[in-house]
Amino acid sequence: MTNNKKITIAIDGFSSTGKSTIAKLVAKKYNYVYVDTGAMYRAVALYGFKNGFVGKDFLDEAGLTGDLNKIDLDFKYNIDLGFAEIYLNGENVEKAIRTLEVSELVSKVAAISAVRKKLVKEQQKMGVSGGIVMDGRDIGTVVFPDAELKIYMIASAKTRAERRYQELREKGEDVDYHDVLRNVMSRDVMDSTREDSPLMKADDAIEFDNSDLTIDQQYEKICALIDKRLAS
Ligand code: DC
Repeated sequence: MTNNKKITIAIDGFSSTGKSTIAKLVAKKYNYVYVDTGAMYRAVALYGFKNGFVGKDFLDEAGLTGDLNKIDLDFKYNIDLGFAEIYLNGENVEKAIRTLEVSELVSKVAAISAVRKKLVKEQQKMGVSGGIVMDGRDIGTVVFPDAELKIYMIASAKTRAERRYQELREKGEDVDYHDVLRNVMSRDVMDSTREDSPLMKADDAIEFDNSDLTIDQQYEKICALIDKRLAS
């Protein structure tokens, strides 16, 4: 079978485009490793927040940069959840990094070149032997420019904010829809206008608009793209 071939799949796009949902399903089907690079930036933001380097109205870039060698990130597979959870200096922070509070700080932290340098290096190491599905903002452009399959996910800001709002409510967070929409839109601007590795579609990426697609429909279409690459 052609499926013995292990390729690298890069999925990029704005926040809440549903990248991780599809990436996890696809990784499971093909028995690939899934890496959520947004979780890595979120964990660094959480570290910065806890240690007083970043807050709503301030960023101590030099302080956080100076502490980067004290930040140890690790993914450990959780068999019950079916995906790997992120650990910050030995502590499971999978939940703590998903709050609106961290979402509001993370774009500032992700714009720091020293942070990106450290995380990109770790991501490239994880994908060295292929068989990986990685999602983020710069996977197809910077981390794996030679990935065999690059998908650029898009969906309207309204659709994305509604999805994120539902997700946060289901987790028991008492959030306001307009705050979530504002956060999604401001992160769009920050992530696509920052100087270092802004979000952009790689020339050879396939644009995939999932605004009106169910998860099942997305899954089917993406698997078809993967099968085509595996057969080529
Ligand atoms: O995918 P996410 O919303 O969990 O990502 C959190 C933040 O991290 C997002 O605002 C942009 C940043 N990010 C990045 O700059 N590069 C990546 N490869 C992944 C995420």
